[in-house]
Amino acid sequence: MNHSTETPSSTLHADRVHEDVERVVVPSAAIAARVRALAQSIGEDYAHADGRLTVVPVMTGSFLFAADLVRALPQRRMRIQLATVASYGGTATATQGSSIVGTLPKHLEDHHVLIIDDILDSGGTLRLLRAEFESRGARSVKACVLLRKRIPSALSTPVEYVGFDIDDEFVVGYGLDYDDLYRNLPYVGALRREAR
Ligand code: IMP
Ligand code: MG
Repeated sequence: MNHSTETPSSTLHADRVHEDVERVVVPSAAIAARVRALAQSIGEDYAHADGRLTVVPVMTGSFLFAADLVRALPQRRMRIQLATVASYGGTATATQGSSIVGTLPKHLEDHHVLIIDDILDSGGTLRLLRAEFESRGARSVKACVLLRKRIPSALSTPVEYVGFDIDDEFVVGYGLDYDDLYRNLPYVGALRREAR
């Protein structure tokens, strides 16, 4: 089992690669193994936590990761509450790079919150959500991301669980998109320049 956040070598490749994908970055078999390992350590960490658990998948990018992860967790009572966060990549907005679309759960006094996101890049999404949940009185707030880019903004953002550390390139698949495309790919791959 692969317990490290290093991406595996190419020996696991069984995925058929989409023509717009330059290269597979994390094969589907490696994702599945890593999801099981993450679920095990998350399960152990929450096994003796008093209070209730609220899992918050961040839409839309984490929909496949969250679906697989929550089913691999030990069966216990948990609330699953989706959050939608809009990110602004450019520098045009004077405000933070991310904003919450819709509502978040209000009363969290007795809840441990576990945020699930697809990729840690600027860190804006996680910082925003963590602050929101803490201000709503959550007993604890932790975050789990499938991918983290090896860049200072991501590496300096607090996060409890990381699937894989990847190089700073634009990736799609397993929930991650380019213009809402490619989310259905079962692996994570680097998108060809020509496809952007
Ligand atoms: P943040 O910059 O850490 O707040 O991440 C914001 C969001 O940007 C992520 O949840 C993804 O939806 C998106 N994102 C960042 N990097 C990539 C990428 O390489 N491919 C696809 N989406 C990305
Ligand atoms: Mg996202």
